[in-house]
Amino acid sequence: MATRLDGRQLANELEQRLQGVIATHLAEAGRPPGLAVLRVGDDPASGVYVTHKEKACSRIGITNHGAHLASTTPQAEVLAQIERLNADPAVDGILVQLPLPAGLDEGPLLAAIDPAKDADGLHALNLGHLLKGEPGPRSCTPAGVMALLARHGVELAGKRAVVVGRSILVGQPMALMLQAANATVTVAHSRTQDLASITRQADVLVVAAGKPLMLGAEHVKAGAVVVDVGIHRTESGLCGDVRFAEVEPIASAISPVPGGVGPMTVTLLLVNTVASWWSRTGGAASAHPLRDLLP
Ligand code: GUN
Repeated sequence: MATRLDGRQLANELEQRLQGVIATHLAEAGRPPGLAVLRVGDDPASGVYVTHKEKACSRIGITNHGAHLASTTPQAEVLAQIERLNADPAVDGILVQLPLPAGLDEGPLLAAIDPAKDADGLHALNLGHLLKGEPGPRSCTPAGVMALLARHGVELAGKRAVVVGRSILVGQPMALMLQAANATVTVAHSRTQDLASITRQADVLVVAAGKPLMLGAEHVKAGAVVVDVGIHRTESGLCGDVRFAEVEPIASAISPVPGGVGPMTVTLLLVNTVASWWSRTGGAASAHPLRDLLP
């Protein structure tokens, strides 16, 4: 029976730890950490994700500076909101929830976020820091996967890792993080031929394809560690990109959906925000309390 990579439990533990960090540094900082989640339009899945993020912030004592803008909001007004948040000293982290409504251009909006407040690690400068192995905020979902693997003692150095999916949000930064941990990484995507022959080579298989139940037993080597980043709402409930019941008997470890990667994405957003707050409010770099979770 495969080990469950339980993101919910690790997320709970990390939330408690973050609460402790906030409590010990609050007096010196003079204010709590602040996060602004900008949601534009009414994408229903985004609504669920943003609610999770806002609730997690309020549980651990991060102030919410977010806004929900109408889907008809012009690009210039979204930009003005970002600039206002960049200038607000009480805001340590800014996140623009994706996808944006048709008509808004994501690139210039993400580029407008102050890289020091980029809670999502999606600014080109921070993606560049990741590419170069330099410190900086990291994308939350792949960083959450790395924390989950570390917690379960999954060895990466010298192992063969396969990432299915090449998005900027997950697949690309995931591949870079696994490579930085000395795995030998292959990225497969929608145009990959004979996907199963590639994924069956994986010691560690991270699936971020965005297609419900796409990978099954035929894609997985016996003893592989399987991380399912997908989350889909279907008539029979939530499911991932992996056919869990088929793969669990083969894998040595597997993340469930829900309760695997999802809670870790939210937690790493909190980690990025608290880390930014720590540095912006005079916390000593040498005494950084979240060092093990940061690059
Ligand atoms: N949409 C789905 N997941 C995410 C995420 O982690 N960050 C942002 N900004 N948008 C998302």
